Amino acid sequence: MKVSVSILKEKDNLKDAFNRLEKSKTNYIHLDIMDGSFTNNKSFTINDVIDLKTSKELDVHIMSKNLDKEINDAVKLKPSIITFHYEATKDILKYIKLIKDNNIKVGLAINPKTRVWKIRKYLKYIDLVLVMSVNPGMGGQDFIKSSIRKVKKLSKKKYNYLVSIDGGINAKTINYVKNYIDIAVSGSYILDSDDIDKKIEVLKK
Ligand code: DX5
Ligand code: ZN
Repeated sequence: MKVSVSILKEKDNLKDAFNRLEKSKTNYIHLDIMDGSFTNNKSFTINDVIDLKTSKELDVHIMSKNLDKEINDAVKLKPSIITFHYEATKDILKYIKLIKDNNIKVGLAINPKTRVWKIRKYLKYIDLVLVMSVNPGMGGQDFIKSSIRKVKKLSKKKYNYLVSIDGGINAKTINYVKNYIDIAVSGSYILDSDDIDKKIEVLKK
């Protein structure tokens, strides 16, 4: 299992967060992009991170309905993965293609209320499913337990996608899902600590 650290709660200290993570054992840096069209809150923009240096792989999670703009912006970062929300558009296949045409892995995210069968027909085209275990909008929320059966179901793979979970992941909640996921996204649990690597190890063990 790999770990992707969300820096959403560090949106006023992005440079510092990148520097801390550069020295850490995280596999990815998870960038939560919110422009207020899909969530109530806004986060940072791609422009805010474009000049920050890192050797870590970037995993961009777009929570927006303005997908043409946000995906084209995200592409400039050369991330490993760009994920957008099933609930944000009726043009799922168009945006899968837009991301793939840029040679970037494509992820499809589902909100806590969205059932897995809704994205069944897209599974053969995507590289990752991001199961939200909190309602998108902010870090530091409690893990929603109905996400456990979703990752369990998705782990029985017919196609070649990765399963990821995002929201409220900590030393306790990771145990509910670790057998079913490939990537755990975690923000506050990891960054609220001085010893980032110790926290990452707890999640991976
Ligand atoms: C929520 C974001 C998550 C979240 C993770 O909208 O997509 O990435 O910030 O943070 P924690 O681990 O604090 O829930
Ligand atoms: Zn996220």
